[in-house]
Amino acid sequence: MTDEQLLTLTPDVAGLEKAAAILRGGGLVSFPTETVYGLGADARNDAAVAGIYAAKGRPSFNPLIVHLPDMAAAETYCDFNETARQLAGAFWPGALTLVLPLKADAGISKLVTAGLDTLAVRVPDHRVAAGLLRAFGGPVAAPSANPSGKISPTTAAHVAAGLGTRIDAVVDGGDCAVGVESTIVSCVGAPALLRAGGIPVEALEACLGHPLQAPHDPATPTAPGQLASHYAPRGKVRLNAPYAKQGEVLLGFGPVDADLNLSQAGDLTEAAARLFACLHALDAMGADAIAVSPIPDHGLGRAINDRLKRAAAPR
Ligand code: TXA
Ligand code: MG
Repeated sequence: MTDEQLLTLTPDVAGLEKAAAILRGGGLVSFPTETVYGLGADARNDAAVAGIYAAKGRPSFNPLIVHLPDMAAAETYCDFNETARQLAGAFWPGALTLVLPLKADAGISKLVTAGLDTLAVRVPDHRVAAGLLRAFGGPVAAPSANPSGKISPTTAAHVAAGLGTRIDAVVDGGDCAVGVESTIVSCVGAPALLRAGGIPVEALEACLGHPLQAPHDPATPTAPGQLASHYAPRGKVRLNAPYAKQGEVLLGFGPVDADLNLSQAGDLTEAAARLFACLHALDAMGADAIAVSPIPDHGLGRAINDRLKRAAAPR
C-alpha cells in the first residue's frame, strides 16, 4: 500500500486474475456484488482478515460474511438443515445470507466468526463477484467496503473515497443493482431474521410457509447492521418528513419537490438501489440537516427504513 491512488482493476479475465492473485497473497480487494461493494480477503488467512478490520476501523466483535461461488462450496464450510436448503435453493445466488453451524474442520479464521461456532455464508448474484470467487477458488470474507459506521458503497468511486489506499485494489464493476445489503437469516434453531435487506422478508416467509422469528433485541447486537448508529451521513437526519424545514435538504420519495429523490415514481426497488448513492451525494453537498420523506414499510421498504433509522440514530 502506498500513498498513491487506489489500484482500480477492470472486471475482465486479466483484472479478475490480478485480484485473485492479490487475495492469494493475503491482500485486500474490494469487489462489486448485487447488493453493495464488499471488502474481500482470504477467509482462511488470519493476517488478511485482520487487515479488513484495520482498514475499516471495525470493532473486532463483529463477525464477517463468507462469500462462495455456489451451494456446494458453502456445504464444505457449514451444516445445512432442511430450512437452510429450502432458502438457499430458492434465493441463491442472491441477496440472502444464511447463518449456519460452522464445520469443525472448516479452516476458517476465528477472526471471521469472531469466535462464534456459526458462520454467515452467501452466494452473490453478480457476474464479477462470481468470476472473482471462481478465479480465487477459496472462501472470501467480505464486509461492506466502507469505513465502520459510514455509508455503504455502491460504486467503485465510493470505495476509493472511503478507504483509498488502506486497501490493495478495487474491481470496478459499475453500480450495484440492489443497493442495500443482503437479508440475514439465522438457520440455527427456528429461522430468525437478523437483518432486513435485499430479499424482502415477505418473499422468505412465502417460501417457508410461516413467519420468521423477530429480529433480536437491538441492545444485544449480533450483526453490526444492528448497532444503533450505522450507515451514517455527516448531516443530522430527520425521518418521516412531509417537507423540509428551513436549513434542511429534502431527500424525497415519490412525487414531492425534493433536492434529491430516491424514486420520483415511488418505486421501492429503485429507491433501494439509489439509497446509499443519495446519502453519499448529501455528504458531498455538505448537507448539515437532512429531512427524509416517509417510505412505506413493506417489501424493500423495510430494509430502506432500517438503514435510515440507523442513519438518524444519535451518535
Ligand atoms: O450484502 C451484503 O451482505 C454485503 C456484501 C458485501 O455481501 N456484506 C455485508 O457485510 O453487508 P457486513 O459485514 O457489513 O455485514 C455482515 C453482517 C454483520 O451484521 C455481522 O454481524 C453478521 O453479518 N454476521 C456475520 N456472521 C455472523 C454470525 N455468525 N452470526 C450472526 N451474524 C453474523
Ligand atoms: Mg456494512
